[in-house]
Amino acid sequence: RESQRASLLAVNDFALKHFEDNLFNTDEGREVGLSYFRQRGLNEAVINKFHLGYALERSNALYASAMEKGFTEDNLVTAGLCIRTDSNRVYDRFKGRVIYPVFSLSGKIIAFGGRTLKKDVAKYVNSPESVIYVKSNELYGIYQSKSAISKLNKCILVEGYMDVISMHQSGVENVVASSGTSLTEGQIRLIHRFAENVTVIYDGDAAGIKASLRGIDMLLAEGLNIKVLLLPDGHDPDSFAQSRSASELEAYINEHETDFIKFKTDILLKGVENDPMARARAITDIVHSIAVIPNPVSTNLYITECSRMLRIDEGVIRMEVTKQRADIA
Ligand code: CTP
Ligand code: MN
Ligand code: MN
Ligand code: MN
Ligand code: MN
Repeated sequence: RESQRASLLAVNDFALKHFEDNLFNTDEGREVGLSYFRQRGLNEAVINKFHLGYALERSNALYASAMEKGFTEDNLVTAGLCIRTDSNRVYDRFKGRVIYPVFSLSGKIIAFGGRTLKKDVAKYVNSPESVIYVKSNELYGIYQSKSAISKLNKCILVEGYMDVISMHQSGVENVVASSGTSLTEGQIRLIHRFAENVTVIYDGDAAGIKASLRGIDMLLAEGLNIKVLLLPDGHDPDSFAQSRSASELEAYINEHETDFIKFKTDILLKGVENDPMARARAITDIVHSIAVIPNPVSTNLYITECSRMLRIDEGVIRMEVTKQRADIA
């Protein structure tokens, strides 16, 4: 098993070099891949920092060069770099896509994401899970961001590859992505190793809001302090960072990040002010977030805050929190 880990890491290392070499040293890589990254506003420093690459359109480009270097077909297939069809044909999984390598906490290449440049059905293709890649325990960007996260005692959580990269380019380096999947406990514990404070900046669309609300209770239950920032509609952190200067981005984050209780209250109470049943459901939901917080001092502060915002007696909220706590335990 150790030797399988080592051989998967070795073939991923080789693939990383291959994809980076394609990007800078082939005509196709420069004309298609590099110009795509340029068009998305990325500079060479950040392209190198995240080791972005390009997989040639030819269906066996990586396969052929890896086999020539002595890697085996099984190795390539197990690592997910190649796909074997029912008729035993083997081809490169990421062909014709730009490549975002996924680093482990310690800097090992454990997976790749590949983005299409065409109108494909799947915008992203990702490495399958393997002994070196358990997706739910990893965060994109953690290797490049961990020192800034611990120095600032704050982690910014975003959805995607480009969000992490563009924010780094703009000087915001304490940022990781859940990569579109819903947040897991493993990912949250990983964040907690480096910081006590988390700001969630998901995409400014309905899906992003829904995902933020879902992630919040899990982050709270871990004992983290949570803020949320809602971007203007239609923006994600990447497009937002690319449309501002570095200092504007930082200022916007500092001014607009909101404590979770205010965020949740604003969203859930919007439009239900005159509907008592809907209002009651919203309040139960907000109280649930308070009930999962492990620290009793924080809980008390939030009860007071919540009572003020909802204009409901503190004692009533406290009772509801106690009741929901009993249900959780
Ligand atoms: N994702 C994925 N597979 C998909 C769609 C999304 O793995 N089919 C993951 C990727 O990690 C992606 C993240 O979810 O970065 C967020 O998705 P989305 O917001 O749709 O993509 P962006 O990151 O904004 O990508 P781009 O700006 O290049 O369109
Ligand atoms: Mn803690
Ligand atoms: Mn999205
Ligand atoms: Mn985007
Ligand atoms: Mn996005």
